[in-house]
Amino acid sequence: MLKGGKKNGMDTFDIKNRLNKIPHIPKNIEVRYFDVIESTSTAAKSDAGRAECDVLYVARRQTAGRGRLGRSFISPEGGLYMSFLFCGERRAEDALKMTVYAAVCVARAIEALTGLDVKIKWVNDLFLGEKKLAGILCEGVFDTRGGICAAVLGIGVNLVGDLGLEIKDIATTLSEHTECVPSAEELLVKIVEELYSLSGERFADVLCEYRRRSCVIGKRVKVLKADSEYYATATDIDEAGRLVLQKEDGSCEHLMTGEVSVRLT
Ligand code: BTN
Repeated sequence: MLKGGKKNGMDTFDIKNRLNKIPHIPKNIEVRYFDVIESTSTAAKSDAGRAECDVLYVARRQTAGRGRLGRSFISPEGGLYMSFLFCGERRAEDALKMTVYAAVCVARAIEALTGLDVKIKWVNDLFLGEKKLAGILCEGVFDTRGGICAAVLGIGVNLVGDLGLEIKDIATTLSEHTECVPSAEELLVKIVEELYSLSGERFADVLCEYRRRSCVIGKRVKVLKADSEYYATATDIDEAGRLVLQKEDGSCEHLMTGEVSVRLT
């Protein structure tokens, strides 16, 4: 359901107006605001074949928010749920790079508006203290020949409200850490601003900040793969954005994102 009406201080027109005032953001981004939607990323993926420019999907609430590895992303009112549809061909390995860029830019945006020190848990989670504040999901859209014809970058941030019993021990909201919680619209505009300015920075420089913000480097972690699980120490993030692990038998592994999950122990 596409809404022109104003809820939560946000609508398509307001968002577009605010983005248009920022010089380095392209003026032809299309904005689609939803009061409630299954998933902004699912909508973006299904529109990919028809879009002619970058499209930004924003929702006040999602009923079937998705995370990595088929997990759900609980998305009640009080959060920011946005997905960017970037048209144009990509390589599969761009997903990891895009996730790294996005994690740094969301962390920067939150820090700029609240002063809070946001940490990144490889590969796509943003943490405040011991709990998850935000998640990033970068997906490729495949064309009929199996090539990637577009990318969808989904970002979800918990701002205020009750996340529910299911995740309250592992997830947090900004309001648990500050009284000055930005509105969803303010944060959205700041994230888009950071995204377009950061995309001009060299990946190596962005990686330096990603490493500096990492809450995984130096920690003992549990690695969960489809067919195995083991403990290791995370020692670094390499030049491609892979997590470098020192295993208990002394061997070293560079972990790609994909069907793997890393838990702090
Ligand atoms: C994760 O935690 O693994 C990633 C979560 C990504 C959530 C965002 S919210 C907006 C967009 N729509 C979705 O369904 N997922 C992403």
